[in-house]
Amino acid sequence: MTDIQHRIPVLIDTDPGVDDAFCLGFGAAYADELDLKGVTAMGGNNYTSVTTRNALALLQFYHRTDVPVAPGATAYLTEEFGTPVAKFHGANGLGNQEIPDPVRKPEPMEGCDFIYKVAKECGGKLVIVTVCPETNLAKAFRKYPDLPGMIEKIVVMGGSTTTGNITPYAEANIRHDVPAADVVFNAGVPIDMIGLNLTRQCVVPDTRLRELATECRPELLDFLCALIRFRNGETMHDAVAIATLIDETVTTWERGTVKINTDPADERYGETVFTPDPNGTVRVGMQADYAKYEAMFAGMANRMNAAR
Ligand code: RIB
Ligand code: CA
Repeated sequence: MTDIQHRIPVLIDTDPGVDDAFCLGFGAAYADELDLKGVTAMGGNNYTSVTTRNALALLQFYHRTDVPVAPGATAYLTEEFGTPVAKFHGANGLGNQEIPDPVRKPEPMEGCDFIYKVAKECGGKLVIVTVCPETNLAKAFRKYPDLPGMIEKIVVMGGSTTTGNITPYAEANIRHDVPAADVVFNAGVPIDMIGLNLTRQCVVPDTRLRELATECRPELLDFLCALIRFRNGETMHDAVAIATLIDETVTTWERGTVKINTDPADERYGETVFTPDPNGTVRVGMQADYAKYEAMFAGMANRMNAAR
């Protein structure tokens, strides 16, 4: 149990999104470890209007209406959003599962401005968990030159030290907005990179979650299990990222540098190339402690009732 004064102030940047729903679940349920200051919504898995609604609806469903949501960018840094591919996250972004519409409205400011507002309030201790294309963060760094010094670290669900998913080389969050990822990885803020090489080790089937989440309220457990089934065994990538913030021993780490292929003409465009370096500013998650992760995953569902 973490003393309440030592909770980690965190902002989640997300495009809910099936696996994003689990990331927000961890943020909501692990309230003794994380002080969830806010959420910024982003396009990617769906349009920003949809992901903003989904973030508000998820926090309401998780009994965390204390957490503000700001709508993020409505295009990538240098191009428009593509048409969302419904087979990955459903037409509604939540695996076609229905949860009640949110009563609350989003914050009356754009995500990049909200990030700066929250960072200023946290006196340099804010940790940002970004599990979507990094457009909001890149816009914030470009607009507020003093922002990097206000952020403790960035946990990025993105990239891979092995193979990609949206292309054989590039992972989706990076590839959707490569210029934004390049801004973020070169902002001078320490980064924990949680790539596909790690997240693919962390599949928790719905049957196993149902077995372990014995204290979870039925409608929440049914929803979470339906999301997992919708993804047909695909791992909940975004949950792994926030789990490593709650307990960094859930993975091994290698320190180094990450260079992003920023040449659109190259078939490896968006690839994250990791080079081990003890002085590097990036830590890369490598080998999961699966039993520990599985327990944290089920713990999210069991703790949700207890969260504020
Ligand atoms: O490549 C996986 C990432 O892309 C996850 O964040 C998923 O939500 C999608 O955004
Ligand atoms: Ca995501």
